[in-house]
Amino acid sequence: MKVREIGQLIRMRPVELDAARRRLARCHDIHELRTRARRLIPRPVFDYVDGGADEELSIRANREAFTRWRFVPRALVDVSAPDTSARVLDRALPLPLVLGPTGFTRMVHPAGEIGVARAAERSGLPYTLSTMATTSIEDLAAATDPDRWFQLYILKDSGLNSELVDRAAACGYRVLVVTIDTAVAGHRSRDQRNGLIIPPELTARSIASIASRPGYWIRMLRSPAIVFANFAAGHPSMTIEEIIALFSPAITWDDIAALRERWTGKLVIKGPLGAADAARAVGAGADGVQLSNHGGRQLDRAVPPADLITEVRDAAGPGLSVLVDSGIRHGADIATAIALGADACVIGRAYLYGLMAGGEPGVDKALDLLTTQFRRTLQLLGVTSVAELRKHGHELLTRVHPDIA
Ligand SMILES: Cc1cc2nc3c(=O)[nH]c(=O)nc-3n(C[C@H](O)[C@H](O)[C@H](O)COP(=O)(O)O)c2cc1C
Repeated sequence: MKVREIGQLIRMRPVELDAARRRLARCHDIHELRTRARRLIPRPVFDYVDGGADEELSIRANREAFTRWRFVPRALVDVSAPDTSARVLDRALPLPLVLGPTGFTRMVHPAGEIGVARAAERSGLPYTLSTMATTSIEDLAAATDPDRWFQLYILKDSGLNSELVDRAAACGYRVLVVTIDTAVAGHRSRDQRNGLIIPPELTARSIASIASRPGYWIRMLRSPAIVFANFAAGHPSMTIEEIIALFSPAITWDDIAALRERWTGKLVIKGPLGAADAARAVGAGADGVQLSNHGGRQLDRAVPPADLITEVRDAAGPGLSVLVDSGIRHGADIATAIALGADACVIGRAYLYGLMAGGEPGVDKALDLLTTQFRRTLQLLGVTSVAELRKHGHELLTRVHPDIA
């Protein structure tokens, strides 16, 4: 056989010349984005994202709370045009998914909060800006126009809390998410071992990492300094513990009531809430709860939020929006959460792995993967819409024994 004849049999794929895009094209799920990120990002920064508290039992349990479920598909349903859209806090979304708040995003990649929010906007999904963002409330609003949510850490300085909330309202943020699980810092073992401080300072160890991760350092040295952008005063570099010490450990339901008075938009409480607390959240005027154990970064051994969905839904009734985060790495996790009674899922690390692996296009990639996986899961389940998934959820799931999950 001649070379020309072989050429007719084998069709060559166009070669992707951009190295970053080529790397992303080789990632077929969120786990592969994570692996890629670990190769590209210096250890202390990767560990800041990837790590959790103490023995990291919650991180593992968060995954198991999803993977211990098995689907029971319905046969012979026309699934040629599944409707993946959902209403979340009175807004129609193409997918029941929200990008959650993560602090110091520009330390991970200079595309930072704006890059992530732009990717969210392209996918039609909400983006939550953290109190501890490295882009200010105003700068994010000026640069992008996704459905904007703002996450509040209630600070010891109560004047600052009102100021942050008023600034978010003035800039058109629609939802206020109040995080309630940071009375003190979780014991982040990896950060302590790595001596992480934020913003990072060049030390002998970080200089050594320049040689092995030059791309990261070149990007960082070319981009504006990392600052706590929502605060006027300059802050020196701090450990995670010093940062979390700025937050009030004395917050109670009275603080939620005061915020409810001040904030006229939708109000969501984010933390490890059980049935009784969810009922109190309704009483305090919250529109939603975001069941969360902070991705296993605060109280290690805190119950996986996925395990709370059913009881919270039953206790709070249909009026409360139930969001869930911690451990979502696949579209099938989103389908499981909805089938258990959640209205939407929220992601943290899943998009940060994309950001570390490939900047803003990496976040697009993470969102594309989750969207495609969710749609395919609905189709293979024999479900034609998110509403149907919610309605018949318990018939579509069976729980396998935790030991074999
Ligand atoms: C690097 C990082 C920074 C985070 N920063 C914040 C934050 O500033 N405010 C907050 O409420 N939660 C923060 N979280 C928690 C996330 O909002 C979310 O609860 C968690 O990431 C969900 O778990 P997952 O990462 O397994 O998706 C952070 C999480 C990570 C991984």
